[in-house]
Amino acid sequence: MFGADPLLRARDTAPLAAERRLTILYDDRPIAATRDDTVTAALLRAGVVATSRSLKYRRPRGPFCLQGDCGTCLVRIDGVPNRRACTTAVREGMRVEPQNRVLSGGPDPTALVDRMFASNLDHHHFMVRPKLVNRVMQEVARNLAGLGTLPDRPAAPARCEEHHPDVVVIGGGRSGRAAASRLRAAGLDVACLERREHDLGTAVAHAHAVFGVYPAEGLVAAMDTAGDGDVLRTYRAAHVLLATGAREVMTPLRNNDLPGVLAARGLAELLARTGDVLACPTVVIGPPSLARPLAATLGADALAPDEVRAILGGGRVEAIATSSGKREAGCVALASPAAPASELARQAGAQVQWNGDGFAVVRDADGRCGAGPWTLWACGEVAGTTAQDAADDGERVAAAIVAAHRQGTIR
Ligand code: FES
Repeated sequence: MFGADPLLRARDTAPLAAERRLTILYDDRPIAATRDDTVTAALLRAGVVATSRSLKYRRPRGPFCLQGDCGTCLVRIDGVPNRRACTTAVREGMRVEPQNRVLSGGPDPTALVDRMFASNLDHHHFMVRPKLVNRVMQEVARNLAGLGTLPDRPAAPARCEEHHPDVVVIGGGRSGRAAASRLRAAGLDVACLERREHDLGTAVAHAHAVFGVYPAEGLVAAMDTAGDGDVLRTYRAAHVLLATGAREVMTPLRNNDLPGVLAARGLAELLARTGDVLACPTVVIGPPSLARPLAATLGADALAPDEVRAILGGGRVEAIATSSGKREAGCVALASPAAPASELARQAGAQVQWNGDGFAVVRDADGRCGAGPWTLWACGEVAGTTAQDAADDGERVAAAIVAAHRQGTIR
């Protein structure tokens, strides 16, 4: 798993300035990283593609979405289990460890489960008799189940902080950032909440993962885990703007869960942010209208899903079986139409409607999508806008919020 062929490499081969370099530890071995890296970016550059195993079949797991959505990149960081490597920024000396493995280093014997039960593992009938065998099996299964192991130390109780901005913007992507900048320029007090630690800037001060929007209580709740000790932050505001974007859905292909299979959208954003390039033969699989332009940008090949029989590999992607033969690949990027990330919008009480790719928020011409203790607004891809138009849409809805705020038409 460690030190195999890298998936990424720096485009610029000139040595980095000393103040931009840092070192993290993966499984006690040093890995070079760049100051703005996520843990995942540093690991992929070092050839670490698989970082855990699935619970039941013990299949190798590595990052997929690269945007904090799927949970396949979980690792143990500084003694705390289940941290998302793809949204966690590196820090000097950070200790990163794989999860859900049985032996440190070398092959994991539990991988045999996947081979032995290739067609099915029916745990309702497997080894239920005699009783003694069942007890042994239960003991083994319980020890293998669960995500990670307990933290090194009990977590300190989270501090709680209450905030009262004029506007809460949920999401710091294209539309959220554009909206937050426009709102701030108009003099409004704005809290722009973004869960990705690496994706901060002037619009977003700190990484806050929003986990709930509660209209009955009139609050938005977020957990801030990036500093010293967790902070539970609650926000009460006159306006809540949903800018949660969209996400690619998994393309149904055989072995689409192999480490090295990545969401094309997340991969393109990672490369744009880090300035890295792909370091191995890569194939983008998706409808030609999506896959071809992306493959051209990434310097990869493109294939339509119906040309692919299976993705091949043991611990990570090694090749693709197609209708015309086998082709080598170290990385597969799956491109699919993005589905609006509308879960929080639904929790907030917004109406959603199927738009062919997923459920987009229904809003009026200004961007309003609900009322209650606040006025609820939506902008960007969560409301069905394209990624290209998301920033413009964020600005447009922000202008409507400014007008509504000034007219005092709410609350
Ligand atoms: S949540 Fe990290 S790769 Fe999906």
